Amino acid sequence: MLTVEGLFSAYGRIEVLHDVSLEVAAGEIVALVGSNGAGKTTLMRTLSGVQPIRGGRITFEGATINAVPAHLRVSLGISQSPEGRQVFGPLSVEDNLRLGAYRRRDGGAQASLARIYDLFPVLREKRHLAAMGLSGGQQQMLAIGRALMAAPKLLLLDEPSLGLAPVLIDQIIDAIVTLKGEGMTILLVEQNASTALAIADRGYVLETGRIAFQGTGAFLLGHPKVREAYLGA
Ligand SMILES: Nc1ncnc2c1ncn2[C@@H]1O[C@H](COP(=O)(O)OP(=O)(O)O)[C@@H](O)[C@H]1O
Ligand SMILES: [Mg+2]
Repeated sequence: MLTVEGLFSAYGRIEVLHDVSLEVAAGEIVALVGSNGAGKTTLMRTLSGVQPIRGGRITFEGATINAVPAHLRVSLGISQSPEGRQVFGPLSVEDNLRLGAYRRRDGGAQASLARIYDLFPVLREKRHLAAMGLSGGQQQMLAIGRALMAAPKLLLLDEPSLGLAPVLIDQIIDAIVTLKGEGMTILLVEQNASTALAIADRGYVLETGRIAFQGTGAFLLGHPKVREAYLGA
C-alpha cells in the first residue's frame, strides 16, 4: 500500500531523515520505533504531507504522492493521529470528530461516528463536552477517532501511548488490534518499543534518521541489539 524509497527530510539545513526506505502492506500493523529525536515524527509528517520532502519517493497505492498536498493525501486515504493529540480544546468531542470528516464526500460520516463511539464508548458519553475537559487517554482516543473519521486506508498513529497510565495504554492497544481485525492498515510510531512490536506484523528501528534494523515484530523483540537499546534487556 505504502512504499517509501530513499527518503530525505530536513529542517532548514539540518537533515533529519537520511535515505529511509520502508513498506507497509495492506492489512499490516507496522511499528516504527526509536529513541526520542530519532526522526519518527518527522517521517510521519513527511508521509502525511505537512513536512516537505527533500529527496526520495513516497508511493501510495501505486502512485507517487511526493507533490500531493496534505489535504489531498487525506482524500487519497492517508490519515494521521499526530503526536501530542492536537485536539481542538474548546470544541466538543463530537465537533472534533466531525472535523475529521471534512474532506469526505461519501456521506459516510454518520456511520463512522457510530463506529468510533462503539470503539471508544467514553467518547459517546462525553460527546457534548469540550475536548479540553477530557483526560489524556480520552484525548488520545479522540485524536485516533478524528483520524478515523476520514475513513482512511492507511492510519498513521504517532505515539498513541505517550504519557498514559498502563490501563489506558492497554485500551488504546486493544483498539488498534480491533482496527487491524477490521482490515485497517496501520503505521504505528512508538517509543514504547515492546508494546508496539508485540502487536506489529513487522517493524523498523529508526536511529538518528536511518533505519538500523527491520524485521517481523517477533524478530525485533528477540534481537539482542534491539533488546539492549530499546527494551531495557
Ligand atoms: N520544527 C523543527 N525544527 C527543527 N528541528 C526539528 C523540528 N522538529 C524536530 N526537529 C529535530 O529533528 C530531529 C527529529 O525529531 P522528531 O522527528 O520529532 O523525532 P522523534 O519523533 O523520533 O522523537 C530532532 O533532532 C529534532 O530536534
Ligand atoms: Mg515524535
